[in-house]
Amino acid sequence: MTDADSIRHVPHASPTSAEARRALMQNPGFGKVFSDHMVTFTWNAEKGWHDGEVKARAPFAIDPAAAVLHYAQEIFEGMKAYRTKDGIVLFRPEENARRMAQSAERMAMPPVPEDMFIDAVETLVRTDADWVPEGDGSLYLRPFIFASEAFLGVRPALQYIFCVIASPVGAYFKGGYKAVTVWVSDDYTRAAPGGTGAAKCGGNYAASLIAQAEANRNDCDQVVFLDAAEHRWVEELGGMNVCFVMDDGRLVTPPLGGTILPGITRASVLLLAREAGLRIEERPYSFEEWKADAESGKLREAFACGTAAVVAGIGEVRFNGGSFTIGNSGDGPVTGRLRDALVGIQRGTAEDRHGWVHRV
Ligand code: PLP
Ligand code: COI
Repeated sequence: MTDADSIRHVPHASPTSAEARRALMQNPGFGKVFSDHMVTFTWNAEKGWHDGEVKARAPFAIDPAAAVLHYAQEIFEGMKAYRTKDGIVLFRPEENARRMAQSAERMAMPPVPEDMFIDAVETLVRTDADWVPEGDGSLYLRPFIFASEAFLGVRPALQYIFCVIASPVGAYFKGGYKAVTVWVSDDYTRAAPGGTGAAKCGGNYAASLIAQAEANRNDCDQVVFLDAAEHRWVEELGGMNVCFVMDDGRLVTPPLGGTILPGITRASVLLLAREAGLRIEERPYSFEEWKADAESGKLREAFACGTAAVVAGIGEVRFNGGSFTIGNSGDGPVTGRLRDALVGIQRGTAEDRHGWVHRV
């Protein structure tokens, strides 16, 4: 690292007026409204990460031969800044930094050191503090790295850009915390053993879009992927992990075996659930078991969890040729309690016993 520790402030010529910002933030939805600034760093083999800047958010000028446009060498993170009574906070940002470094390793990209990652995110949040919503909203932060080198040979690129942008957001699902409906994909899988399933790379999402579109055509909010080898084991949703709450106090969730994303929400919820007295089983759970447990009533609740979605109950499962409901098809009590416990910590209304909250 050379001057990665310092981020140069480039003055913004025409930031959004307070009035326009308030209008944009009224009902922002998810990922449609963007704050005024972005942080960027450049990487090359000689200098490492350098030229850190916080400046007006603007389009990149990249070469048409930039490797990312051809071979998809790109990774990203997703995290949120919350406005609390004690100021603006991040939730476990060092976990996002660590996961981005692991994604970088898998995609043969240069990792961003943890201190540089946190400095970049904090700098953007401080600069765009007015864009952190009040109330239930949050400022969604999107750090990402892409290969910017102009070269069509297939090998790890020799130039990269690291960038952080920010977007004020409300609920990910349009129904808020109403239970969601999911579609189990028959035709498509997300990641195979040895593949990129545990990395947060853009290509995983590109490959999931056709399955997500199929889910939407079937009036479902999210797609559920089964494993690639046997097409039997539940893995995760298009953009979140999944957990199952049983009638005997067990919480079952698919294990991290390299084919699913190691969610920070998942890890946090599992710990909170264990502390609440649930018995955690990280083990393969098949679609047949899911259906049989839902039909027998052994499965009381299921929920999706992730930064964007937070913790969302799953009320109904649809698949080619049928469907089943879970519990009373609503957002169940255990799901609600786990969400409240997590959100309470994130929003500073519950004690942060694990040191998860990071003040900006
Ligand atoms: N799985 C996928 C495929 C995701 O895109 C996400 C969201 O980032 C998650 C799981 C949950 O991860 P996290 O809780 O760290 O946001
Ligand atoms: C997130 O929860 O941060 C995600 O990345 C999910 C989706 C918006 C891609």
